[in-house]
Amino acid sequence: MKSTVMKIIIANWKSHKSAAEADSWFADFEKQAVQLQNSSFEVVIAPAFIHIHPLSWRLKNTSSLKNTVLAVQDLSSFPAGSYTGAISTQNLASLGISYALVGHSERRRYFHETHQDVANKVDQALQAGIKPVVCIDEQYLAAQAAALSKEQLSECIVAYEPLEAIGSGNNATAADVTTVSDRIHEVFGAVPVIYGGSVTAANVAEYLTITDGVLVGTASLEAKAFVELLTAAHSKV
Ligand code: PGA
Repeated sequence: MKSTVMKIIIANWKSHKSAAEADSWFADFEKQAVQLQNSSFEVVIAPAFIHIHPLSWRLKNTSSLKNTVLAVQDLSSFPAGSYTGAISTQNLASLGISYALVGHSERRRYFHETHQDVANKVDQALQAGIKPVVCIDEQYLAAQAAALSKEQLSECIVAYEPLEAIGSGNNATAADVTTVSDRIHEVFGAVPVIYGGSVTAANVAEYLTITDGVLVGTASLEAKAFVELLTAAHSKV
């Protein structure tokens, strides 16, 4: 079951790019992606926090990129306050953040985030009007859902990201994505489900026929490759 919301394509830059590289990516993207605007998907750029403010400014002043918005890759599980080093939703206010990735497997693995931490981040995002994109793998889907209230579950987008598919070139089969999407709908309800893990221009179209969007890491790092991926997606939606 796919929901009827607009499909989303998220570029997750992870901790790549200097300020100059982010700037030049955006300049290239702006030139190349204009013809892909007004299509039926939303493009979401998820850069490191340091790039959020300049990209926010550029998007606000680039009238040709109408369907491109920003996401953060993470946010604090606490409200604004004495939490040194954290980025709260108050820090992000007025920067035009539409989505927040939460619980990416790299956050869980290297920063030891728990299901409860992820639930607290979902709560912070929802209170600030930011749509949480909860990243899960099949084996802890139920445990993650159990840490969220029924209302919170219904407000999430869920990204199915099998660990072995991330950054490996070993993308999941369509059959696997369909099976896990059904399971996600059983647990979360009729929420949008997206897929992430070695998505490229060559395979994106297939995922878009069975999901509500994709989360793209490696293939989003060069503007040219990302525009190729969007072009392939455009032919499908
Ligand atoms: P990948 O990363 O596209 O490089 O596999 C996806 C992700 O980690 O979100």
